[in-house]
Amino acid sequence: MDLSVRIRDKVLPNPVGAASGTIGYGSEYEGLVDYDRLGALYTKAVTPEPREGNPIPRIVETTAGLLNSIGLANVGLKRFLSEKWPYLSSLPCPVIANVAGSKPEDYLQVVSVLEEHTDMWGYEINISCPNVKKGGITIGTEPDVVEDLTASLRKLTNRPLIVKLTPNVTDIRLIARAAENGGADALSCINTVVGMAIDIKRKRPVIPQKTAGLSGPAIKPIGIAAVYRVRTAVSIPIIGLGGIMNADDAIEYLLAGASCVQIGTGLFVDPTITVKVLEGIEEYMKQNNMNSISDFSSYWKEW
Ligand SMILES: Cc1cc2nc3c(=O)[nH]c(=O)nc-3n(C[C@H](O)[C@H](O)[C@H](O)COP(=O)(O)O)c2cc1C
Repeated sequence: MDLSVRIRDKVLPNPVGAASGTIGYGSEYEGLVDYDRLGALYTKAVTPEPREGNPIPRIVETTAGLLNSIGLANVGLKRFLSEKWPYLSSLPCPVIANVAGSKPEDYLQVVSVLEEHTDMWGYEINISCPNVKKGGITIGTEPDVVEDLTASLRKLTNRPLIVKLTPNVTDIRLIARAAENGGADALSCINTVVGMAIDIKRKRPVIPQKTAGLSGPAIKPIGIAAVYRVRTAVSIPIIGLGGIMNADDAIEYLLAGASCVQIGTGLFVDPTITVKVLEGIEEYMKQNNMNSISDFSSYWKEW
């Protein structure tokens, strides 16, 4: 059975990865996550400068998912290289850097430095960041900004370039096409959905930033629909994520047109979830006489 997934000219050993921001820099999960069997580790966002992140509380549980407003807290590019990369580069699984910034130059800086100093498997470009230059609008909501940014990054690297789409747009297909036109090799679909929770005793938002990103089971149907719609709009691979809590959830994404998946919030519930999901996918493939992950891709076309 072939579980590998090709992106550009590189291969992920299996289709189940750990999502950015939920597995830190890897060392946090040492002994808990089986890195020998992880399809890919997507790092916490890397920005040029260190970031403190937003005021607490910045994670709140709701009835169907998690609200987070981390604010891209991270150690910054310099300490990423000196403190985090040595451990990450020793892992047996592919490591993909999640890259963020508040202006296009930030992304270019991070990718060009990582190009020079690491053998990173590839890059996942988090375009759900506010664009300071354009007055705070999210970079990933403007097709022309996404296409230009992707094209500039493309010039810097021959490694796989994955653009991570935000669902907080009117038509996600337009953004997906813009990334493909700019030269993206794959799309991650989806980032968190805008959400909010109110503390009724204090009569004010629970999270100081007021709105936050919703993840977990509540967003799975949104993610599935996004993958399906994006699948009809582009021809590059899609990495499906959003609310995957078990193998059946992952299989839904694969049947909707994803080539592989990531698990985020599910890792907080069970750090061994990636292996369980991988085994569940294998079992399903056996039962359905599938030989390769690419066999999933035929189904959505029949609907
Ligand atoms: C605490 C937390 C931190 C996150 N940090 C990042 C990040 O740094 N970069 C990014 O692209 N996505 C980040 N995400 C989004 C996840 O990677 C993922 O897209 C989202 O949570 C949906 O997947 P899930 O429902 O499996 O968690 C974060 C999510 C959570 C819950």
